[in-house]
Amino acid sequence: MADSPSPKQAAGIAAAKHVKTGTILGLGTGSTVAFFLDALAERMKKEGLQVIGVPTSVETAEKCKELGIPLATLEEQPVIDLVVDGADEVDPEFRLIKGGGGALLREKIVAAAGTKVIIIIGGGKRVDRLGTTFLLPVEVLPFGYLSIRERVAQLGECKPYVRNTEAGEPFVTDNGNYILDCRFENGIADPNQLHATLSQIPGVIEVGLFLDLCHIVIEGGDDGTVVTLQR
Ligand code: A5P
Repeated sequence: MADSPSPKQAAGIAAAKHVKTGTILGLGTGSTVAFFLDALAERMKKEGLQVIGVPTSVETAEKCKELGIPLATLEEQPVIDLVVDGADEVDPEFRLIKGGGGALLREKIVAAAGTKVIIIIGGGKRVDRLGTTFLLPVEVLPFGYLSIRERVAQLGECKPYVRNTEAGEPFVTDNGNYILDCRFENGIADPNQLHATLSQIPGVIEVGLFLDLCHIVIEGGDDGTVVTLQR
């Protein structure tokens, strides 16, 4: 008997079943999305399913090219039918923390262009309060990033750390920016307020809080089953 899929793989396979032929598909980033792309490519091969994907990162674009998934830019396809992406935390109101892979800016632009957004997750990502299990990523301009970090610390009431590569250099996003990972001692009390506050700091490009951008959550379980939550 074949092994049951991992929770992330189960979520990816389930999301691929939501795709219809002709869909303009926003393609998120991360390990869960990679499973979705595999399942999507499988359906394209076996069933002749046809889609056009709009990738949110160089990583996702490269995987799509390997799998033969046709791609377009957001300029070519400014309205997206369905977005499938992962998340780092999901709260009961379908609010998310995203950006663990550093792709939050393009992910948010693509999600905002989407008519429907499905978030796929493995276990352990549903939380009562955002910011309790994961640091909040904030994309900032390299110019003056240490001053920006001070401002984020003051106004956000958090401890922001510059994300580094293994070589000890600042991690650079696909957009040429840096990431601050922000630690909140007791989680984020008011995500809407925090988003508004951080967004007004000069040099903050995007905040990894996705507050009204998710319609369906598909969570994979240990035994290969999935739970689908709808708003
Ligand atoms: C990428 O920047 C992120 O927003 C990912 O979508 C998120 O980190 C989930 O990643 P995994 O699917 O690898 O857990």
